[in-house]
Amino acid sequence: MATLTVDPLVSRRTADFVTQAHRIFIDGRFVESASGKTFPVYNPATGDVITHVPEAEAEDVNRAVLAARRAFDEGPWPRILPSERGRLLWRLADLVEKHLDEFAEIESVDNGKPYSVARVADVPLTVDMFRYMAGWATKISGTTLPLSAGYDFHSYTMREPIGVVGQIIPWNFPLLMAAWKIAPALACGCTLVLKLAEQTPLSGLRLAQLIAEAGFPPGVANVLTGFGEGAGAPLAAHDLVDKIAFTGSTEVGRLIVHAAAGNLKKVSLELGGKSPAIVFPDAKLDEAIAGTASAIFFNQGQCCCAGSRLYAHEKIFDQVVEGVSRAAAEIKMAPGLDPSCQMGPLVSDEQYRKVVGYIESGIAEGAHVAAGGPISGVERGYFVRPTVLTNTNSNMKVVQEEIFGPVVCAVPFGDEDVERIVKRANDTVFGLAASVWTQNISLAHKVARGLRAGTVWVNCHNVFDASLPFGGYKQSGWGREMGAEVLHNYTEVKAVTVAL
Ligand code: NAI
Ligand code: MG
Repeated sequence: MATLTVDPLVSRRTADFVTQAHRIFIDGRFVESASGKTFPVYNPATGDVITHVPEAEAEDVNRAVLAARRAFDEGPWPRILPSERGRLLWRLADLVEKHLDEFAEIESVDNGKPYSVARVADVPLTVDMFRYMAGWATKISGTTLPLSAGYDFHSYTMREPIGVVGQIIPWNFPLLMAAWKIAPALACGCTLVLKLAEQTPLSGLRLAQLIAEAGFPPGVANVLTGFGEGAGAPLAAHDLVDKIAFTGSTEVGRLIVHAAAGNLKKVSLELGGKSPAIVFPDAKLDEAIAGTASAIFFNQGQCCCAGSRLYAHEKIFDQVVEGVSRAAAEIKMAPGLDPSCQMGPLVSDEQYRKVVGYIESGIAEGAHVAAGGPISGVERGYFVRPTVLTNTNSNMKVVQEEIFGPVVCAVPFGDEDVERIVKRANDTVFGLAASVWTQNISLAHKVARGLRAGTVWVNCHNVFDASLPFGGYKQSGWGREMGAEVLHNYTEVKAVTVAL
């Protein structure tokens, strides 16, 4: 029987899962952490503790890595028919889909996001990611190469699984981030240890149950709950890990690079952003206003590709700011499971303080608050009102640093030439994403070409698909996730040359 209150609106089944005695998943079994320690999980809409999960530490990481190592070196996974790997990934997709409502509830109570959003975005995108990668399992191939060294050679390449992969994910899309990591690694024939974010461990633990149910061989996918320093750091440093894949802050990305230096394991990183949305005067304004508002406010602004710098031409600047501010004011904030909810709380007290701190620093540096502000007016939970700042300049912290909350800085531009606007948009250490709003096709493509970012959206923002490679230029990361590109993250290339 549940003694903790999860959320008055959550189903009995989900409440039972949330409050159960949780275990980490190592070598195909659910086990306690070696120390027996646990840590609390909070409902961000209330700030209440809803359950506890095991606190994995170095010893647990080591057990999980050894299991993954054995599964890779001696187990069937890298050797079974690719079609069998595809079949299991597809089965996992079916299982997640079967539990769509439950996953959406778990995401909502654990992360705070609207249930309605998790139901149409996080969970279906997760299902799709597993299906898309199930398809790739049978299509990972090399090429034959004509050599200039001589005619009497036959040369070809093979793409082989990179080995044991350590994966560390954040809390903004807990289930989806797990899928972005797990699906391609398994499709390529790797084995893995996934460390979930300490703020949001629950959907990953439910996914581990489905991994067991789907019938993956033991040790192929191991799932840990724990903190960054206690569990993430030993995973990143482990000598028997061949590759580490990380999504999170740029600051921790740097630590991962250092930790990987010991055995020179391969590294891929998906880090922060400060993505521009650029609205030209000929844009369809209604769509640009709705689109740029959702670019920043979607997922409470907790997106690495959030459109947090809004550049609008001076002819339409007031109209755009007014429109986005109106959209901000109309957004209904409520706990994620409340049917009226359009925006939930931020994920944690820490994130709440960080975001409010940025709003206050912007105001102190002279920014004007066109909508929102530091006071949410909601008594409980980590709610921050969607906020629009104007009168900002490029030296302000709010314009340079990733806020990771529902806060946008709107900046006008004049009849400058395209190069200058692009230069301003590129004036950041990040390079993750950008959007361009115009009906002028040639202008759109010109700007897209000039932007130093891994993703450019034209007349849209936050469009994700398993087939689209995603990742960053500059300090936004190394490598790409999703699409065919992600296969490079999880394979090594072997060149074989035969003298005939
Ligand atoms: P974080 O980068 O500290 O955490 C992300 C993951 O890394 C978590 O699983 C965490 O346990 C792990 N981690 C932390 N320290 C580690 C270490 N020394 N070694 C190995 N793993 C470690 O991000 P945090 O603290 O949750 O958020 C801070 C800021 O980072 C946010 O405000 C936001 O600006 C940014 N962020 C960016 C994300 C993205 O998608 N690019 C996602 C989450 C946060
Ligand atoms: Mg951190």
